[in-house]
Amino acid sequence: MSAPPRRAATPVIAIDGPAAAGKGTLARRLAETLGLPYLDTGLLYRAVGRLVLDAGADPADPDAAAAAVAALAEHHLRRDDLRGPAADAAAAAVASLPAVRAALLDFQRGFGAARGAVLDGRDIGTVIFPDAPVKLFVTASLPARARRRWLELEAKGIEAPLARVEEEMRVRDAMDEARLAAPLRPAADAVLLDTTDLDPDAAFAAALKVVRERLDVT
Ligand code: CDP
Repeated sequence: MSAPPRRAATPVIAIDGPAAAGKGTLARRLAETLGLPYLDTGLLYRAVGRLVLDAGADPADPDAAAAAVAALAEHHLRRDDLRGPAADAAAAAVASLPAVRAALLDFQRGFGAARGAVLDGRDIGTVIFPDAPVKLFVTASLPARARRRWLELEAKGIEAPLARVEEEMRVRDAMDEARLAAPLRPAADAVLLDTTDLDPDAAFAAALKVVRERLDVT
Protein backbone atom coordinates (compact mmCIF):
# COMPACT_ATOMS: atom_id res chain seq x y z
CA MET A 1 0.00 0.00 0.00
CA SER A 2 1.44 3.38 -0.90
CA ALA A 3 1.72 6.10 1.73
CA PRO A 4 -0.89 8.89 1.55
CA PRO A 5 0.40 12.21 0.16
CA ARG A 6 1.99 14.41 2.78
CA ARG A 7 -0.12 17.48 3.35
CA ALA A 8 2.66 20.03 3.11
CA ALA A 9 2.10 23.41 4.76
CA THR A 10 4.31 24.98 2.09
CA PRO A 11 4.34 23.14 -1.20
CA VAL A 12 7.99 23.51 -2.13
CA ILE A 13 9.09 21.64 -5.25
CA ALA A 14 12.87 21.25 -5.51
CA ILE A 15 14.27 20.55 -8.97
CA ASP A 16 17.98 19.87 -9.18
CA GLY A 17 20.29 18.47 -11.80
CA PRO A 18 23.22 19.14 -14.13
CA ALA A 19 23.38 21.77 -16.87
CA ALA A 20 20.74 21.83 -19.60
CA ALA A 21 18.90 18.78 -18.26
CA GLY A 22 15.57 20.52 -18.84
CA LYS A 23 15.07 21.78 -15.26
CA GLY A 24 14.05 25.29 -16.21
CA THR A 25 11.40 24.35 -18.77
CA LEU A 26 9.98 21.78 -16.41
CA ALA A 27 10.06 24.00 -13.33
CA ARG A 28 8.40 26.91 -15.12
CA ARG A 29 5.61 24.72 -16.42
CA LEU A 30 5.01 23.05 -13.06
CA ALA A 31 4.85 26.46 -11.40
CA GLU A 32 2.32 27.75 -13.94
CA THR A 33 0.17 24.64 -13.67
CA LEU A 34 0.18 24.62 -9.87
CA GLY A 35 -0.11 28.40 -9.44
CA LEU A 36 3.19 28.63 -7.55
CA PRO A 37 5.99 31.21 -7.83
CA TYR A 38 9.08 30.06 -9.70
CA LEU A 39 12.73 30.84 -8.98
CA ASP A 40 15.60 29.96 -11.32
CA THR A 41 18.36 29.96 -8.69
CA GLY A 42 21.06 29.65 -11.35
CA LEU A 43 20.33 33.28 -12.22
CA LEU A 44 21.56 34.34 -8.77
CA TYR A 45 24.98 32.76 -9.34
CA ARG A 46 25.06 33.95 -12.94
CA ALA A 47 24.37 37.54 -11.89
CA VAL A 48 27.05 37.43 -9.18
CA GLY A 49 29.56 36.01 -11.66
CA ARG A 50 28.69 38.70 -14.18
CA LEU A 51 29.18 41.47 -11.60
CA VAL A 52 32.64 40.10 -10.82
CA LEU A 53 33.50 40.10 -14.55
CA ASP A 54 32.19 43.69 -14.81
CA ALA A 55 34.61 44.68 -12.06
CA GLY A 56 37.46 43.17 -14.08
CA ALA A 57 38.12 40.64 -11.31
CA ASP A 58 38.54 36.86 -11.19
CA PRO A 59 35.27 35.03 -10.32
CA ALA A 60 37.32 32.57 -8.22
CA ASP A 61 38.55 35.44 -6.02
CA PRO A 62 36.57 35.25 -2.74
CA ASP A 63 36.90 39.00 -2.00
CA ALA A 64 35.68 40.04 -5.44
CA ALA A 65 32.79 37.56 -5.25
CA ALA A 66 31.85 38.74 -1.75
CA ALA A 67 31.69 42.35 -2.98
CA ALA A 68 29.55 41.28 -5.94
CA VAL A 69 27.07 39.30 -3.87
CA ALA A 70 26.73 42.24 -1.46
CA ALA A 71 25.88 44.51 -4.41
CA LEU A 72 23.39 42.10 -6.00
CA ALA A 73 20.00 43.64 -6.76
CA GLU A 74 16.89 42.23 -8.39
CA HIS A 75 17.46 44.04 -11.70
CA HIS A 76 20.77 42.23 -12.14
CA LEU A 77 18.80 39.00 -12.60
CA ARG A 78 17.17 40.48 -15.69
CA ARG A 79 20.41 41.27 -17.54
CA ASP A 80 20.63 39.83 -21.03
CA ASP A 81 24.28 38.78 -20.73
CA LEU A 82 23.89 36.03 -18.13
CA ARG A 83 24.26 33.16 -20.63
CA GLY A 84 27.09 32.00 -22.85
CA PRO A 85 30.48 30.43 -22.12
CA ALA A 86 32.01 33.26 -20.05
CA ALA A 87 28.88 33.71 -17.92
CA ASP A 88 28.59 29.92 -17.40
CA ALA A 89 32.17 29.64 -16.18
CA ALA A 90 31.92 32.72 -13.94
CA ALA A 91 28.68 31.39 -12.37
CA ALA A 92 30.26 28.03 -11.58
CA ALA A 93 33.35 29.71 -10.11
CA VAL A 94 31.46 32.00 -7.72
CA ALA A 95 29.06 29.13 -6.89
CA SER A 96 31.93 27.11 -5.43
CA LEU A 97 32.62 29.79 -2.81
CA PRO A 98 30.95 29.06 0.56
CA ALA A 99 30.50 32.78 1.38
CA VAL A 100 28.59 33.36 -1.83
CA ARG A 101 26.30 30.40 -1.18
CA ALA A 102 25.73 31.51 2.41
CA ALA A 103 24.81 35.03 1.30
CA LEU A 104 22.16 33.69 -1.11
CA LEU A 105 20.63 31.16 1.27
CA ASP A 106 18.10 33.37 3.10
CA PHE A 107 16.77 34.88 -0.10
CA GLN A 108 16.08 31.44 -1.57
CA ARG A 109 14.47 30.14 1.62
CA GLY A 110 12.38 33.28 1.98
CA PHE A 111 11.19 32.96 -1.61
CA GLY A 112 9.77 29.51 -1.01
CA ALA A 113 8.69 29.79 2.59
CA ALA A 114 5.72 32.12 2.29
CA ARG A 115 3.36 30.16 0.06
CA GLY A 116 5.50 27.50 -1.50
CA ALA A 117 7.36 27.66 -4.81
CA VAL A 118 9.12 25.72 -7.51
CA LEU A 119 12.89 26.31 -7.37
CA ASP A 120 15.46 24.87 -9.73
CA GLY A 121 19.18 24.64 -9.14
CA ARG A 122 21.85 22.29 -7.83
CA ASP A 123 21.29 22.15 -4.06
CA ILE A 124 17.61 22.93 -3.54
CA GLY A 125 16.72 19.47 -2.27
CA THR A 126 19.96 18.94 -0.35
CA VAL A 127 20.65 22.32 1.28
CA ILE A 128 18.06 25.04 0.64
CA PHE A 129 14.90 22.99 1.30
CA PRO A 130 15.99 19.61 2.71
CA ASP A 131 12.40 19.07 3.91
CA ALA A 132 10.76 19.84 0.56
CA PRO A 133 7.85 17.43 0.01
CA VAL A 134 8.74 17.04 -3.67
CA LYS A 135 12.29 16.64 -4.96
CA LEU A 136 13.16 15.83 -8.53
CA PHE A 137 16.67 15.21 -9.81
CA VAL A 138 16.47 15.86 -13.54
CA THR A 139 19.24 14.55 -15.71
CA ALA A 140 20.04 13.43 -19.28
CA SER A 141 23.09 12.10 -21.09
CA LEU A 142 25.90 14.60 -21.68
CA PRO A 143 25.52 14.49 -25.51
CA ALA A 144 21.75 15.10 -25.23
CA ARG A 145 22.23 18.02 -22.85
CA ALA A 146 25.03 19.53 -24.93
CA ARG A 147 22.87 19.36 -28.04
CA ARG A 148 19.99 21.12 -26.27
CA ARG A 149 22.28 23.90 -25.06
CA TRP A 150 23.86 24.21 -28.51
CA LEU A 151 20.39 24.65 -30.06
CA GLU A 152 19.51 27.29 -27.42
CA LEU A 153 22.72 29.19 -28.15
CA GLU A 154 22.12 28.95 -31.89
CA ALA A 155 18.60 30.37 -31.45
CA LYS A 156 20.17 33.34 -29.65
CA GLY A 157 22.66 33.84 -32.47
CA ILE A 158 25.61 32.61 -30.36
CA GLU A 159 27.82 30.48 -32.64
CA ALA A 160 29.82 27.72 -30.94
CA PRO A 161 30.91 24.27 -32.12
CA LEU A 162 28.86 21.48 -30.54
CA ALA A 163 32.04 19.71 -29.36
CA ARG A 164 33.11 22.81 -27.42
CA VAL A 165 29.68 23.25 -25.84
CA GLU A 166 29.84 19.62 -24.72
CA GLU A 167 33.36 19.92 -23.34
CA GLU A 168 32.59 23.12 -21.40
CA MET A 169 29.46 21.50 -19.99
CA ARG A 170 31.42 18.41 -18.92
CA VAL A 171 33.96 20.59 -17.11
CA ARG A 172 31.27 22.70 -15.39
CA ASP A 173 29.28 19.63 -14.26
CA ALA A 174 32.48 18.08 -12.89
CA MET A 175 33.21 21.30 -10.99
CA ASP A 176 29.66 21.43 -9.59
CA GLU A 177 29.91 17.79 -8.48
CA ALA A 178 33.40 18.05 -6.97
CA ARG A 179 33.11 21.27 -4.97
CA LEU A 180 32.99 21.06 -1.21
CA ALA A 181 30.21 23.65 -0.76
CA ALA A 182 26.83 22.16 -1.65
CA PRO A 183 28.03 19.80 -4.41
CA LEU A 184 25.63 18.75 -7.15
CA ARG A 185 24.13 15.41 -6.12
CA PRO A 186 20.63 13.97 -5.77
CA ALA A 187 19.05 14.21 -2.31
CA ALA A 188 18.51 10.76 -0.80
CA ASP A 189 14.73 11.18 -1.20
CA ALA A 190 14.78 12.72 -4.70
CA VAL A 191 13.00 11.05 -7.60
CA LEU A 192 15.35 10.68 -10.59
CA LEU A 193 13.99 11.80 -13.94
CA ASP A 194 16.16 11.01 -16.96
CA THR A 195 14.97 13.13 -19.87
CA THR A 196 17.44 11.79 -22.48
CA ASP A 197 14.62 10.16 -24.45
CA LEU A 198 11.76 12.37 -23.26
CA ASP A 199 10.39 15.41 -25.05
CA PRO A 200 9.32 18.36 -22.87
CA ASP A 201 5.68 17.16 -22.73
CA ALA A 202 6.66 13.66 -21.62
CA ALA A 203 9.07 15.05 -18.99
CA PHE A 204 6.33 17.35 -17.70
CA ALA A 205 3.81 14.49 -17.48
CA ALA A 206 6.30 12.35 -15.54
CA ALA A 207 7.11 15.21 -13.15
CA LEU A 208 3.46 16.09 -12.58
CA LYS A 209 2.76 12.47 -11.67
CA VAL A 210 5.44 12.64 -8.97
CA VAL A 211 4.08 15.95 -7.69
CA ARG A 212 0.54 14.54 -7.45
CA GLU A 213 1.78 11.51 -5.55
CA ARG A 214 3.63 13.68 -3.04
CA LEU A 215 1.43 16.73 -2.70
CA ASP A 216 -2.27 17.13 -2.16
CA VAL A 217 -2.92 18.79 -5.53
CA THR A 218 -5.26 17.95 -8.40
O1 CDP B 1 21.19 26.64 -17.17
P1 CDP B 1 22.24 25.71 -16.60
O2 CDP B 1 21.65 24.43 -16.10
O3 CDP B 1 23.41 25.52 -17.52
O4 CDP B 1 22.89 26.46 -15.35
P2 CDP B 1 22.22 27.26 -14.15
O5 CDP B 1 21.17 26.43 -13.50
O6 CDP B 1 21.82 28.62 -14.62
O7 CDP B 1 23.46 27.37 -13.14
C1 CDP B 1 24.67 28.01 -13.50
C2 CDP B 1 25.73 27.61 -12.49
O8 CDP B 1 25.37 28.16 -11.22
C3 CDP B 1 25.90 26.12 -12.25
O9 CDP B 1 26.85 25.52 -13.10
C4 CDP B 1 26.31 26.05 -10.80
O10 CDP B 1 27.71 26.17 -10.64
C5 CDP B 1 25.67 27.26 -10.17
N1 CDP B 1 24.45 26.96 -9.39
C6 CDP B 1 24.62 26.46 -8.12
O11 CDP B 1 25.73 26.20 -7.69
N2 CDP B 1 23.55 26.25 -7.31
C7 CDP B 1 22.32 26.50 -7.74
N3 CDP B 1 21.28 26.31 -6.92
C8 CDP B 1 22.12 26.99 -9.04
C9 CDP B 1 23.21 27.19 -9.86
